[in-house]
Amino acid sequence: MNNGMSSILICGYLPAPTQELSEYLGMHYSTCSCNDVGQALKLLDEEPVDLILAQHQQTGFDALTFLNRARISHPEVVRVLAGSLSREEMTEAINKAAVYQFLPEVWPVELVELMVRRSLENRELGYRYRHLNREFKIAEDVLKKYNEQIESSIEDSHQFDKLVYCSRSMASLCNMAKKASKTNLPILIQGPTGTGKELMARAIHHNSDRSRQPLMVHNCGGMSDELLHSELFGHKKGAFTGAVSDRLGLLPAADGGTVFLDEIGDVSPTFQVSLLRFLQEGEVKPLGSDKIIHCDVRVIAATNQPLTQLIQEGKFREDLYYRLNGFQLNIPPLSERPDDIEVLTEYLAKRYAHSIGRKILGVAPDVIKQFQLHNWPGNVRELENEIKRMVAMTDNGSFVSPEDLSEPIRSLKAKPTETVETLTLDGMTLKEKIEQMEIKIISKTLQRCRWNQSQTARELGLSRVGLSNKIKRYGIHADVVAGVQG
Ligand SMILES: Nc1ncnc2c1ncn2[C@@H]1O[C@H](COP(=O)(O)OP(=O)(O)OP(=O)(O)O)[C@@H](O)[C@H]1O
Ligand SMILES: [Mg+2]
Repeated sequence: MNNGMSSILICGYLPAPTQELSEYLGMHYSTCSCNDVGQALKLLDEEPVDLILAQHQQTGFDALTFLNRARISHPEVVRVLAGSLSREEMTEAINKAAVYQFLPEVWPVELVELMVRRSLENRELGYRYRHLNREFKIAEDVLKKYNEQIESSIEDSHQFDKLVYCSRSMASLCNMAKKASKTNLPILIQGPTGTGKELMARAIHHNSDRSRQPLMVHNCGGMSDELLHSELFGHKKGAFTGAVSDRLGLLPAADGGTVFLDEIGDVSPTFQVSLLRFLQEGEVKPLGSDKIIHCDVRVIAATNQPLTQLIQEGKFREDLYYRLNGFQLNIPPLSERPDDIEVLTEYLAKRYAHSIGRKILGVAPDVIKQFQLHNWPGNVRELENEIKRMVAMTDNGSFVSPEDLSEPIRSLKAKPTETVETLTLDGMTLKEKIEQMEIKIISKTLQRCRWNQSQTARELGLSRVGLSNKIKRYGIHADVVAGVQG
């Protein structure tokens, strides 16, 4: 009966009108007819019917009984009743059979068809409404679940000013930074590019008693000595070619506040001496001036080349290193704190979406999974850029999806994990294999602790001397450490 068209069951009509109705309605719908209540109910069970058109009592067909029962067995089918009915019958038809529409006994087929069409349209609207309502409910449940997940992941994460993290290494580092911020000691922040050194310096300043005073940020990289001197200590008019007026340096300008010196590893030996004098005496002598200015400034320095390495290479003064090193905060690369990837992703996506007015539902879990496989040489900055691009590609009301991952990240495959079952000697003796693993573990820990051997020994459960012996025996040095993967 059903060939994609809506189907109508016609009951209780005399043969001639049934014929005429069937033919007319048959041009638009699939029709069938029946004049027996039992048979009509059976038909409803067996065939898909969208609308019942029943004529009351004309052929002895008890349309009211039929519609009452059809309402119970097939409530979704629209019920239309034709014929002359008493007041009581009408009340019953409305209350019990929930008839959608009444028709007079004699009614032109065109009008019957029009009324059938309207009834079916109405049924379709009801169906769509229920369907959409269900979809909304599902979407609402997904959203609710997702929000709960975010809330619990945010509960697990922490924030130090604008730094977001949940890894243990960052938690203990930020705890130390919070304590350091309450002192006036200089702070040395070390970490690879994009790990958040400047963000950390700002967090420290904002958490310090100097937060109402200025924070001056200066990048010391790629600057001539003269310019760097002039920037930080100031100069007198005519001190050098181009010094057309007096200039107050950053250090005196930040009196009472904080100066953040980025890329401190790049400064020349001459500048290192001047900086050392400032750290020892708190005195500044502008270029071309005899006058000494005292200023109370907390110095935070940052570098992405470990200073101990530069000292070994003869490029950095050891005494300056100790002066700067009131507190040392070593921010680990992102690859060494995979626990932070998820919270950072959620946080950065939400923040960027908000900034461009995009209403995203969140980040799909598969995106995070791929992020976990990447090594992030550019650290959080690289992650931030990847997320910004992906959020920009995401439509309002959607999740940030794995389809928008950049190709190098999308194509990463999870490595099978090395377990005792899969571990092979690869042609080595057992002793050699164990030594190889020991070298890997020591090197990775040294790298994470930025060659702080006391901390490394503590983490590995070794004595300081025990660790030093192993470093010597295996010939582990910074280059080897940098090359160790996996
Ligand atoms: N833990 C973090 N939480 C939130 N955002 C972070 C975090 N770490 C880094 N970022 C973001 O990553 C970007 C790089 O951070 P930042 O500039 O502080 O790094 P850096 O270590 O100073 O880098 P560089 O060595 O290249 O100067 C910034 O946009 C910063 O907001
Ligand atoms: Mg920086």
